Amino acid sequence: MRYSQACGSLLLLVCLAGLGCIQAVTLEVREGNSTCIKAEISAFFSITYNASSGARSVQVPLPNTTRVDASSTCGTAGGLPGLVATFGPGHAVGLSFSRNGSLYSVDNLTLQYNLSDPSIFPDANSSDVVTVVSTSVGIRAAINTTYRCMSATSVAVGAQVVTFSDMRLQAYMPGDDLSPAETTCAADQATTVAPSTTRTPSTPPPEPSTPEQGVYSVRNLNGTICFLAQMGLQLNFSYVSQSQNKTIQEIFNLNPNLTSSSGSCEASRATLVLVQDRTTTLGFTFSMNSTSNKFYLSAINLSADWPDMTVPFSAGSTELDYLRTTLGRSYKCNMEQSLPVQPGFSLNTFRLQVQAFNVTTNQFATAEECQMDQDQMLIPIIVGAALAGLVLIVLVAYLIGRKRSHAGYQTI
Ligand SMILES: *[C@@H]1O[C@H](CO)[C@@H](O)[C@H](O)[C@H]1NC(C)=O
Ligand SMILES: *[C@@H]1O[C@H](CO)[C@@H](O)[C@H](O)[C@H]1NC(C)=O
Ligand SMILES: *[C@@H]1O[C@H](CO)[C@@H](O)[C@H](O)[C@H]1NC(C)=O
Ligand SMILES: *[C@@H]1O[C@H](CO)[C@@H](O)[C@H](O)[C@H]1NC(C)=O
Ligand SMILES: *[C@@H]1O[C@H](CO)[C@@H](O)[C@H](O)[C@H]1NC(C)=O
Ligand SMILES: *[C@@H]1O[C@H](CO)[C@@H](O)[C@H](O)[C@H]1NC(C)=O
Ligand SMILES: *[C@@H]1O[C@H](CO)[C@@H](O)[C@H](O)[C@H]1NC(C)=O
Ligand SMILES: *[C@@H]1O[C@H](CO)[C@@H](O)[C@H](O)[C@H]1NC(C)=O
Ligand SMILES: *[C@@H]1O[C@H](CO)[C@@H](O)[C@H](O)[C@H]1NC(C)=O
Ligand SMILES: *[C@@H]1O[C@H](CO)[C@@H](O)[C@H](O)[C@H]1NC(C)=O
Ligand SMILES: *[C@@H]1O[C@H](CO)[C@@H](O)[C@H](O)[C@H]1NC(C)=O
Ligand SMILES: *[C@@H]1O[C@H](CO)[C@@H](O)[C@H](O)[C@H]1NC(C)=O
Repeated sequence: MRYSQACGSLLLLVCLAGLGCIQAVTLEVREGNSTCIKAEISAFFSITYNASSGARSVQVPLPNTTRVDASSTCGTAGGLPGLVATFGPGHAVGLSFSRNGSLYSVDNLTLQYNLSDPSIFPDANSSDVVTVVSTSVGIRAAINTTYRCMSATSVAVGAQVVTFSDMRLQAYMPGDDLSPAETTCAADQATTVAPSTTRTPSTPPPEPSTPEQGVYSVRNLNGTICFLAQMGLQLNFSYVSQSQNKTIQEIFNLNPNLTSSSGSCEASRATLVLVQDRTTTLGFTFSMNSTSNKFYLSAINLSADWPDMTVPFSAGSTELDYLRTTLGRSYKCNMEQSLPVQPGFSLNTFRLQVQAFNVTTNQFATAEECQMDQDQMLIPIIVGAALAGLVLIVLVAYLIGRKRSHAGYQTI
């Protein structure tokens, strides 16, 4: 009952904003008389697609009309157990499980979406059904326990992102109900209180100052850190305010204390997804170019669903080339940097250091400093050189003057 209350308050909070309700759904895979997989989850998908006006990104919540597809299986006839949930005309999300000793895990997360659904993908210039798979999902739990993760956690699936929250799920179930014993995800262990019951979508303050620096990392399945970042982040975007009945320019600082992070590391791509207050999701994708031996920030996505917004805000670009750095190094920029993402949305970074690939021993490698920092460091050098020059001129002038007066004295 505790859970359904938490869920009820979440429904109330998030649905007040109108569109983009995020609600919990319960899904169950049965075979014969017994249940083998059960999931209570909230999820939304951040999908970027090509529209006639250019790349667009949308947020698709898992609706409460979601059904368990007949292709779901307990794996009793061979193969792995899997849950396939479908909604709308041909959209689906699938989880396939495996067990190893006393652990079970999600092997693959599959996302399928039908671009010919105009209610979700308006103006799409393709009508394809797209399927993307991730094999590094990071959901693992002890057998006979329920995997529990109330915090929002995001998984990069191809170029798209799936964000789960309020999740309780179990596979290889010994009974028909979720086991009371739980395996809690790392994100929940970090926060002392369940975010869904205590955090309300806060209206951001009007004129924030310099944002606080947050420290974020992403781990591999084997627990080693594969992505490191520390940065202060400030969003600059415009939206139509309900209370003011006009478009306002918002400068919004991310508060690291209220931000949960997640992400994934793949061979040539790494993602970091930051979620604040459940209402603001900021995603970064770093790509590797092995030809030039560099990594760079290739995509930024923002979605926000604040109570004051008439419609949820969603913007992003997948064609960026920022923070370019040699592989095996980290990128550093202490000065404020402004990264335009798309007209009407830019991201300001402060005291930033990031390394998206080749992180060893959980530390940043040697930093490549941005030009602005280098210029900044040049100032004391220039001032110093100028001062030294001045001293030299005074000294020379003094010596010449002394020699002249000396000479003058001698002639008398
Ligand atoms: C389901 O349970 C009923 C009653 O407990 C039993 O008669 C039936 O054989 C079971 N069916 C399967 C497929 O196990
Ligand atoms: C969008 O179109 C461009 C150019 O046609 C293509 O390179 C890109 O892969 C497309 N993106 C998606 C998400 O389909
Ligand atoms: C689809 O969209 C992309 C980018 O928005 C554009 O480059 C491409 O030409 C479009 N393709 C068609 C068939 O309209
Ligand atoms: C995709 O959506 C279109 C339009 O809603 C529908 O006609 C088609 O059957 C869907 N495709 C699949 C595979 O469900
Ligand atoms: C199962 O776990 C063991 C020990 O952790 C590992 O050596 C083995 O490769 C794993 N097997 C599979 C199929 O993942
Ligand atoms: C899941 O991943 C495994 C290993 O990559 C692959 O063999 C399997 O076909 C995948 N399953 C699905 C449903 O994509
Ligand atoms: C899980 O529970 C079942 C049924 O209660 C039991 O038979 C099995 O030994 C348990 N497995 C582990 C690894 O605890
Ligand atoms: C962890 O996994 C990554 C790739 O997934 C691998 O490069 C690294 O060596 C592994 N570390 C350990 C300690 O096994
Ligand atoms: C925010 O963006 C607007 C429009 O692009 C720009 O004029 C303004 O200077 C930006 N403000 C900050 C603090 O970055
Ligand atoms: C909002 O502004 C528009 C025009 O600027 C006006 O027509 C409309 O009545 C206003 N709505 C409210 C609720 O004030
Ligand atoms: C974040 O938490 C730290 C320590 O609890 C506190 O000093 C700091 O002021 C908090 N920052 C914000 C922006 O709330
Ligand atoms: C990778 O770098 C090479 C050389 O600098 C460049 O020609 C190429 O376009 C880059 N590829 C991508 C995908 O950015």
